[in-house]
Amino acid sequence: APRVFSGIQPSGGLTLGNYLGALKRFVEMQEEAYETIYCMVDLHAITVWQDPEKLRRATRELCAGFIASGIDPRKSILFNQSQVPEHAQLGWIFNCVARMGWMKRMTQFKDKAGKNAENASLGLFGYPALMAADILVYHATHVPVGEDQKQHLELTRDIAAKFNHDYGVDFFPLTEPVIEGAATRVMSLRDGSKKMSKSDPSDMSRINMTDDADTIAAKIRKARTDPEALPSEAKGLEERPEARNLVNIYAALADMSVDAVLSEVGGKQFSEFKPVLSDLAVAKLAPISTEMARLMEEPDEIDAILHQGSARAREIAAPILKKTYEIVGMVG
Ligand code: TYM
Repeated sequence: APRVFSGIQPSGGLTLGNYLGALKRFVEMQEEAYETIYCMVDLHAITVWQDPEKLRRATRELCAGFIASGIDPRKSILFNQSQVPEHAQLGWIFNCVARMGWMKRMTQFKDKAGKNAENASLGLFGYPALMAADILVYHATHVPVGEDQKQHLELTRDIAAKFNHDYGVDFFPLTEPVIEGAATRVMSLRDGSKKMSKSDPSDMSRINMTDDADTIAAKIRKARTDPEALPSEAKGLEERPEARNLVNIYAALADMSVDAVLSEVGGKQFSEFKPVLSDLAVAKLAPISTEMARLMEEPDEIDAILHQGSARAREIAAPILKKTYEIVGMVG
């Protein structure tokens, strides 16, 4: 079966962007004809400072988020990255394959490092090589992600191709990004030109997967919009980023196309559309946050799931790393 790998960082809480851009697709792919492997990438999280106690909690909460969203640990392998050392081991090999020039072009590094790139960690610079290792240590063929990860997945293909070329093998597959659905780039509720992000200082800019019904309703009510009514076709959303974002969110939550949504709500004012969107968001998200809170009462159960998941992951990763070492010329 084609194999899916994807990861989410346990740095801060899950947002609606993570859910619609990634998690919801993870669940759908689990139910399709794929072998699915999902990872809490704690090694990636520490490329920027993480308080240890908060990292522990965020890892467990993220695991609860996966399960509450519909990931079934019997169907998917669910684990945290640090417990499968093959990720870091293959990551080192890829540090020696990837070129400085490739890494310097990564927009996520530029955004995260900000003006003072000299002070960024070396891990942040090498982040995409470890990400390539996450994927390729399983020979994964499909990687569901949001739009913002596209460049990293192109780099993953470049690393696989260069490794295969340099060693004269056909060993690592060229992975397909899966960037699909109405909400591959969910924008901030306060600014339609910015991505919805867990690191935005304004909590009103995002919906957190742990927000209660009243908070979700208040954030949607206060979301920035323009004064026009909704158009009846997708074309009418061009140049209206805030309007487009809310319609995309509705479409993704309702599993409808943008055109189908607009054929229902076209002509309505935002004062009418927002309460409908808010009801839909609460109906879809409240059960997830309730289940997350319930699971967080059972940290031992969560730890056991992660522990079993890493054992299963290692069974796949270890022989692929061993073969890689042989190709590279390590005696062992
Ligand atoms: P992270 O933790 O930033 O985000 C996890 C997933 O959520 C998606 N996402 C969004 N999608 C739509 N709209 C948004 N506003 C939004 N914000 C986040 C991301 O695209 C991502 O799919 N580098 C990855 C983690 C990673 C990984 C991997 C992913 C590490 N190794 C291997 C795939 C395969 C990241 O930072 O995700």
